[in-house]
Amino acid sequence: MAGPSPYLHEDKPASFLDRKLWVRIMSLAANKKGLAFFALGLLLTSEILPLLQPRLLRGLIDGPIKNRHFQDMPPYLLAFAALAVSGGLLEYLRAFASQRLGLDIINELRIRLFHKLQGFHMDFFNRTPVGRLMTRLGNDVDSLNSMFTEGLIELSGALLMIVYAVIFMFFLDWKLALASLAVLPFMILVTSIFRENVRRSNTKIRGLLAEQNSLMQESLSGVHIVRIFGRSADMEQKFDKVNSDTRDAWFENVRYYSYYFPFLNSLTEFSLVLLYFCGAYMFYGHHTSLGTLVAFSWYTGLFFRPLREISDKVTALQSALAAAERVFTLYDTEASLPEGNLTALPSPFHLRFDKVSFAYPTGPEVLREVSFDIREGESVAVVGATGSGKSTLISLCSKFYLPTRGQVLVGDKPIEAYSETALRGRMALIPQDVHLFAESIAFNVALSPDFDLSRVEEVCRHVRAHEFISSLPQGYLTPLRQRGENLSAGQRQLLALARALYQQPKLLLLDEATASVDTETEGLIQEALGKVLKEVTTIVVAHRLSTIKNADRILVMHKGQIREEGSHADLLAMNGIYAKLYQLQSFG
Ligand SMILES: Nc1ncnc2c1ncn2[C@@H]1O[C@H](COP(=O)(O)OP(=O)(O)O)[C@@H](O)[C@H]1O
Ligand SMILES: [Mg+2]
Repeated sequence: MAGPSPYLHEDKPASFLDRKLWVRIMSLAANKKGLAFFALGLLLTSEILPLLQPRLLRGLIDGPIKNRHFQDMPPYLLAFAALAVSGGLLEYLRAFASQRLGLDIINELRIRLFHKLQGFHMDFFNRTPVGRLMTRLGNDVDSLNSMFTEGLIELSGALLMIVYAVIFMFFLDWKLALASLAVLPFMILVTSIFRENVRRSNTKIRGLLAEQNSLMQESLSGVHIVRIFGRSADMEQKFDKVNSDTRDAWFENVRYYSYYFPFLNSLTEFSLVLLYFCGAYMFYGHHTSLGTLVAFSWYTGLFFRPLREISDKVTALQSALAAAERVFTLYDTEASLPEGNLTALPSPFHLRFDKVSFAYPTGPEVLREVSFDIREGESVAVVGATGSGKSTLISLCSKFYLPTRGQVLVGDKPIEAYSETALRGRMALIPQDVHLFAESIAFNVALSPDFDLSRVEEVCRHVRAHEFISSLPQGYLTPLRQRGENLSAGQRQLLALARALYQQPKLLLLDEATASVDTETEGLIQEALGKVLKEVTTIVVAHRLSTIKNADRILVMHKGQIREEGSHADLLAMNGIYAKLYQLQSFG
């Protein structure tokens, strides 16, 4: 039933050269231009400071030290101290600016994304596992954060340092520069092999982790089923396998690093040896000074050190890019229904289905040419076998979906012309499975923290929920556990009914809303609702036919079509599907 979500593809490899993606990421910082340029400016200046130190040292060695003019040393020492202090200060400011930038951007992105999700089409939620959406809003947005706070700035810093170092080296002595950088081609080759391996291994790990997560989620949320049917061992075996595969994949990943970094170190040292060898030769020939040679060995360090950082950051950045792509894909999903601009429902209220056919995006037609209408104050009951399309019909009444053919009309306008707020404000839907929030009972009835307690009590009396609520330790203020686990299924349904009445709806949609309540209580509710329902238009889906005898009209659904229609008496007289069902229920 729940096929893969078409809206979210996992793990499309993100490319560093994807210009559109970069523009999009940069545009996130558009509102923070000042801060972004500040951070960039700090980056450009703070990276250049470390490169001034070798030059100073060269001056010191070839000047005061070589000539033994120790009285000339203080200015050099002061300059060193000044460089050290200002370097620290700049680094502090840079970290501060980039952290702030990242956090601000991410804060805004997460709010926008959350807001957008609220308006998404119901079908989107049917097909997209909640866990995946939580990953988008949580981990993926976080990795964008680290991209701004560490990744991008640090990576540009490291690259900049390398560029600066090369410029300074060639400026100082191009022959020595060539000697120090001779190992570079070899290093690039090995690095690219390393990166390819790590990338492949990361993709594998991510896949395994996703598998592990979904396995955990499934077996934990279905834990009672797993236990009752004695499937714990199977689940554990499956989990074991994925888990040890993950461990092996991690180990492989770590192994690449443990080859690469020592290699990088040796290569750096080797390049120093080469430098000293050539340097000594040139020094003897008076082609270079001792100061230059020492400065060069410092530059070599400045050149090779960031390489290590880069290979680390690049992998992090690559997964951040992939995360960014997933976040944007979600953001761009056009999964909202068109929002109409009519804000008031017609008075008197009138709802009409005109030859409505409907198929869920992935499936066959489940409603075929359904036509009926309902006027203010009327009640229509829908009956039919499981899977005949009753819940689907109710969803179409509340604009969760739009018909594939035909029209749903409210007054004389198609339902899509109305704004969601207008419709949902005056419609109450009591679905088959009630969702309760981990808040007080009163909150759950009013769906707002500013509830009117006396009204809450009034509606709860109507639906016969008052009695059990007042027996709870804190009455209406008793907090519910997640999903109302501390209530029975029937009690949850009573709260859902109370919730619907509290909204003073014009149209009340009940989808097997009293199926879990015992027959006696159901009768009492029916009686109490009777008064309220006189004024409210209702469509009720029910299994127990005894509860809908008094409906103005009864629609009998069969395989997505309305087969019979009329009052209880009419339908009995017709002696068709309904009459047969009724007989089964009365005597069965
Ligand atoms: N979200 C959905 N996506 C795809 N198919 C669905 C979805 N919900 C229901 N269906 C299919 O639509 C048909 C009618 O379902 P439904 O309206 O829930 O029936 P009823 O409420 O009468 O039991 C069923 O065949 C069911 O498999
Ligand atoms: Mg149903």
